[in-house]
Amino acid sequence: MGHGRAYTMASEVASDPSGRSRPKGLWGLLGCLAVLSFLALPGNGVAQEAPGPSAEDLYITFLGCAGCHGMSGEGGVGPELRDTELSLEEFIKFIREPMGAMPPFGENLAPDSELETIYDWLREET
Ligand code: HEC
Repeated sequence: MGHGRAYTMASEVASDPSGRSRPKGLWGLLGCLAVLSFLALPGNGVAQEAPGPSAEDLYITFLGCAGCHGMSGEGGVGPELRDTELSLEEFIKFIREPMGAMPPFGENLAPDSELETIYDWLREET
């Protein structure tokens, strides 16, 4: 009968469920979060050097300024921007904390570097 008992113990070990129920999904999720937080890191050198979207892409497509200020800043719902008298600092400050009907664009959505690109482009259009 000793033989039969040893067999039983071995099969108990083999069917231990703890080895099978590790939450692999959790590790996958953590991996995704790690990648996302890396991509979201502000000011990492790689993002600065890579050729970003053009001023026109930012103005029209990514930030949607064109919907209110016209395709090349000629004005629409919002005022004309091509002849803006604002300095770059005033321009950025206005966009962060606008008056009237314009929605604010925060640093996360529209970093200073992108607003500067748009500002230069708007003035070239004049
Ligand atoms: C939903 C419409 C809308 C969007 C989108 C929008 N604006 Fe405006 N913007 C306005 C309106 C309306 C005003 C006038 C606000 C006031 O003075 O009452 C304005 C004013 C401004 C001014 C001040 C102009 C001046 O000479 O005083 C600047 C600069 C400006 N917008 C830049 C931008 C930029 C850059 C973007 C994209 C990042 C943008 N706006 C997106 C509606 C918009």
